[in-house]
Order: sequence, then structure tokens, then C-alpha cells
Amino acid sequence: MQSKIESLRNEIQNLHAQNADEVEKLRIRYLSKKGLVNSLFTEFKALPGEEKRKFGQPLNSLKNEAKAKIAALQNEAGQAQKSFSEGDLSRPVRFEGLGAEHPVNLVKNEIIGIFNRIGFNTSEGPEVEDDWHNFTALNFPEEHPARDMQDTFFVAKDPDWALRTHTSSVQVRVMENEKPPIRTISPGRVFRNEAISARSHCFFHQIEGLYIDKKVSFADLKQTLLFFAQEFFGPKTKIRLRPSYFPFTEPSAEMDVYWGLENERDYRMTKGTGWLEVLGCGMVDPAVLKNNNIDPEEYSGFAFGIGVERIALHRFQIPDIRMLFENDARFLKQFTAAL
Ligand code: PHE
Repeated sequence: MQSKIESLRNEIQNLHAQNADEVEKLRIRYLSKKGLVNSLFTEFKALPGEEKRKFGQPLNSLKNEAKAKIAALQNEAGQAQKSFSEGDLSRPVRFEGLGAEHPVNLVKNEIIGIFNRIGFNTSEGPEVEDDWHNFTALNFPEEHPARDMQDTFFVAKDPDWALRTHTSSVQVRVMENEKPPIRTISPGRVFRNEAISARSHCFFHQIEGLYIDKKVSFADLKQTLLFFAQEFFGPKTKIRLRPSYFPFTEPSAEMDVYWGLENERDYRMTKGTGWLEVLGCGMVDPAVLKNNNIDPEEYSGFAFGIGVERIALHRFQIPDIRMLFENDARFLKQFTAAL
């Protein structure tokens, strides 16, 4: 009896459990009615009187020790459970879900993709630009009212440096560095000192295109823009070109796509005409070619400039341009499906 009590005590002192289930199994094995401790009591009952006196007390203390041990293990398992619900730093990370691409980026990348497919490469330039690249090389005469078309943010009161008002400045940089044929688009952020409203912001994104080669004609321009419009808005899209004015193109035009007049919203977006203005364009003015050492007798070209936000507003039916720049997660999350 002595040795049985000893070995069971040893066994019980060394018990371990990983969780509450395991503790429960141990409790049943040692402390239940048919458990190991009770079976010693059964043996004990069959002992002669003298032996009983000898082992009664040790057997009771074994039972108490066993109860204490199981209680301790239960306590440990409970603690572990609690600290898990409070955040176990070693657990695997929780998957929070992917973010969404910004609607301006979605539209910008789609437009870039369309022009890349027909041989336009992509060029980029600085957002802080000097007067030559933003204005003078593009045939904006000094003090000419045409500069007022683009309300400029100057840098530190220095009239020679400004935030670029269009990415035509990048096209000047391309013409400086490359020889025709040139076929490039320049996506990027531009800045204008304009009152912020639902329709315009003081910064936005453009994708401007430039194509210079021998015998480039207005028909090429029109066909390229029609291709773009039908790729982007759908194969049945109609376009129209309206005469316009830009200092760097001659002739100049603005392109509208036919949006339709099916509901009240269409009336509002198209100001009741059904047509939506999407870009400015024209044949590169010979003076601009000359400014960039390209011989206008040999080469001609076309250029166009697309406002990315305006197209994003239409594509996603967003009522206010300011929503694009507030970075409200509830708004941005809605574009996950557009990826
Ligand atoms: N740069 C013009 C603008 O920002 C757009 C444009 C580009 C027009 C090229 C004609 C040709 O408004």
C-alpha cells in the first residue's frame, strides 16, 4: 500500500495539461468515482484494521493533493484561455482584406493601357516646372492673356518656377531629348489655382499625348481619339470635335463623347446636351516644333490632353470631385470590385 500511494503521489505531482479538455481527462482518470485515487480507497477498505490505521491519513492527504493539483491545472488552462481572448501576440496575423485601388488610378491605368497598345510610350516629368517648359516653349507669349487660362501656383513668389499647370511640360522635355518619330503619353498630377467645387479642384491628373512624325494629319488625330473613346467607353461610342483654342495647337479642338439623355442625371452631367466634354486636342503649332528644334517643314504632329478625374467621375457616377481626395475609407473601399 505504501508504495502504491507513493507512486500515485509522484505521478500526480508531475501531471501536465495543455488545455481545459486535457485537465478534464486527468480529473476523470484520478478523481472520478472509478478513478485511480478512489480505487486505492477500495483496496484500503479491504485491509486489516491495523493497516487501516496506518494508511488512512496518507491516503486522505493523497486525495487532497490530487484535488489541489487538478484545481491548479484547471486554473492554468483558464488563464491561458483568457490571455488568448485578450490578444495572444504569438498567434498568426489576422487577414484584414486587401485595399482597393484608387478610382483615379484605375481610370489612369486603363487609359495608359489603351495608348500603350497602339504604340505610345509613357513619359514623366517634374511637378515643379520652370516657365520655359510649362509656358514659353509651348508658345505662350510673355504677358499674354492665354496664361490666364491656367491659374498658376508660383513657387516662393518666383515667376520662373511654378507647379505645372499641365503635363504638356513633359512633352516639351521629350521633344528636347528625342528625335521624331515621337509617340508618347504623359500622365501626372497638375495644379491650378482654382476655386474648389464639386466639379473642379486645385489639383488633378492629366494624360497628355503627343505624336510627331512625317505627314501626321488631323485625320490621324481624329482616328486615334475615336479609337480611345471606343476602347474606353464602348465600341458604339460616338465622338464630336468642337473648335477651340490652345496656344500650342493650331487648329485646336475639344472632344465630346455622346453620353445620352436617358435620365435626369444624364441631363445634369451633360448640361442637357447629351454630350460630355472629355479632352482638348489639336495639331502641334509649328512654333512649338521650332522651339524644340524640330523642323516644321519636315514634321507635323498632334497632341491631346485628357482630364483623368472628369472621366473617373463619369465612369463611377461620383457626384463630387472632392470625394476623390478625401481618402475616406468608406468611399475608397467601394472600388475593391473594380480591380
Ligand atoms: N494642355 C491642355 C490643358 O491642360 C490640354 C491640351 C493638350 C490641349 C494638348 C491640346 C493639346 O488644358
